[in-house]
Amino acid sequence: MAVARHGVAAVLVLAAVAVHGVLCGGSSSSHAHAEFGAGAALGRNAPSWRPRGNGTDTGAAGAPAPAPTSGYVQAGCGCGPTPPAWRFKNGKLAALYPVIQAFKKTITCDPMGVTATWEGTELCDSFFNGTRYLGFYCDYPPYAPADNISYLTVASIDFNGFGLCAPSLAGFVDQFPDLALFHANSNNFSGDVPDLTHLPYFYELDLSNNNFSGSFPETVVPLGNLTFLDLRFNRYAGTVPPPVFALTAEALFLNNNGFSGRIPDTFGSTGAQYLVVANNEFTGPIPRSIYNTSATLSEVLFLNNRLSGCLPYEVGLVEGLAVFDAGGNEIAGPIPLSFGCLRDVEELNLAGNQLYGQVPDVVCLLARTGKLANLSLSDNFFHSVGHHCMELVRSRVLDVRRNCILGFPDQRPPIECAAFYADPTKHCPFIPHIPCDLPGGHGHGGYIKPHDAAAAAAAVTGHQARHQGGGRD
Ligand SMILES: *[C@@H]1O[C@H](CO)[C@@H](O)[C@H](O)[C@H]1NC(C)=O
Ligand SMILES: *[C@@H]1O[C@H](CO)[C@@H](O)[C@H](O)[C@H]1NC(C)=O
Ligand SMILES: *[C@@H]1O[C@H](CO)[C@@H](O)[C@H](O)[C@H]1NC(C)=O
Ligand SMILES: *[C@@H]1O[C@H](CO)[C@@H](O)[C@H](O)[C@H]1NC(C)=O
Ligand SMILES: *[C@@H]1O[C@H](CO)[C@@H](O)[C@H](O)[C@H]1NC(C)=O
Ligand SMILES: *[C@@H]1O[C@H](CO)[C@@H](O)[C@H](O)[C@H]1NC(C)=O
Ligand SMILES: *[C@@H]1O[C@H](CO)[C@@H](O)[C@H](O)[C@H]1NC(C)=O
Repeated sequence: MAVARHGVAAVLVLAAVAVHGVLCGGSSSSHAHAEFGAGAALGRNAPSWRPRGNGTDTGAAGAPAPAPTSGYVQAGCGCGPTPPAWRFKNGKLAALYPVIQAFKKTITCDPMGVTATWEGTELCDSFFNGTRYLGFYCDYPPYAPADNISYLTVASIDFNGFGLCAPSLAGFVDQFPDLALFHANSNNFSGDVPDLTHLPYFYELDLSNNNFSGSFPETVVPLGNLTFLDLRFNRYAGTVPPPVFALTAEALFLNNNGFSGRIPDTFGSTGAQYLVVANNEFTGPIPRSIYNTSATLSEVLFLNNRLSGCLPYEVGLVEGLAVFDAGGNEIAGPIPLSFGCLRDVEELNLAGNQLYGQVPDVVCLLARTGKLANLSLSDNFFHSVGHHCMELVRSRVLDVRRNCILGFPDQRPPIECAAFYADPTKHCPFIPHIPCDLPGGHGHGGYIKPHDAAAAAAAVTGHQARHQGGGRD
């Protein structure tokens, strides 16, 4: 089964964030720590700059016990004078104190009362298992010797689920020079995303399920070291700058905004393993440059946009695809035979489009020879299914309801099918070539002769089937 849908964290932590899971507004990034940082190795929610599980993160154990917080800061307020620098563990933390206090003053709602813990001089309390400064996590930066308390600083800010409201993050997030992660799922932040290009270690940005609006945040585009970018569930609109897809991010979540325009050809440059643009207003075709993602792309969700054009043959070249979901668009054409090469695909959702012709046998065979567990093709205009598809319908792996398949239950009215197949504007190329070796003798990088789809279509529609693809043999 696709890890994404079920959100099974297991060991592959990033997998838990992907892809169907991100269609809910909840946090995905809280699981991402262990994948990227040593937080998991430390047994706490503290990401760091070091690679995972290298066994050298013994800072906490060797560190002195926290000094008791004295009453210098006025109780319950945190708005008194800045304590003298010597009360902080080091000068870096002393410099961050006013940044946090200034941000605290701009917060207009705090349903969980977390900001009440933002007082005193123990900014790194969580590092010592304390409960002050909820949301702030410290570690030793990469340039410093581990265990030397004079270098301890804020490495990560994780406000996931805090429900805070603030009009701007500028002057806050950008003021933590050693910050690696900023996670703020399910808050009510808005305003401009501050420029973070001067933060050399920054690599994860999660602003999902907030109150951001306007055009795509340009300040994100130059963040060349991002491995995780999550902007889903905001009110962003307009086009996505093409360089965004060329970011190095392993996970790119842009879903549930109002993004529009064509998905740029730079799509093919994405290094993402998980890429979700679902539930926006993108138009135009799925870029054929998708073939170029074959080394990395594992789960991709285009669903519920207004994508059109023909389903690209090139999708079938993305060998590692586990989830391909382009449901709920206006995509036309036959399913290219290249899809029969998606040996790792577990979920293939093309429901609710303008697809037609025969459901290729080679695709249905993937349930037997590959990993296919869910083939959703309902609400299209397919007129027939390959031989091996029949058993998948019976086992409910394949859903072909509301198509034009003669003799199948729950199909479209014949007149609707006739009208569709009579429309000469619907034409997509059919390439009778399978670009891989298939088990069982099909393919071998060669050509196969499609079934007699034209005849089947004509039987369904009572018309000469001109444009069903797969029928021109
Ligand atoms: C914090 O808790 C962890 C796990 O419970 C423990 O291994 C570590 O020693 C504790 N650190 C301190 C400074 O108490
Ligand atoms: C920690 O680093 C500071 C600044 O470089 C240095 O002065 C101090 O001697 C170090 N302390 C230890 C215990 O290594
Ligand atoms: C943001 O604020 C609005 C209006 O107060 C509220 O309806 C919404 O639930 C809040 N969102 C989050 C994620 O807290
Ligand atoms: C959401 O953002 C708008 C501006 O885009 C602002 O007027 C409104 O107060 C924000 N809502 C919350 C709950 O912060
Ligand atoms: C990426 O990280 C490297 C190494 O830390 C750093 O030198 C470089 O400036 C960073 N690039 C960007 C665009 O932040
Ligand atoms: C293919 O991807 C590489 C980076 O992985 C990029 O440099 C190149 O421009 C991409 N080509 C196309 C056609 O997308
Ligand atoms: C198969 O996928 C479709 C579309 O994503 C989904 O609606 C359906 O619930 C899935 N079926 C199963 C059995 O998981």
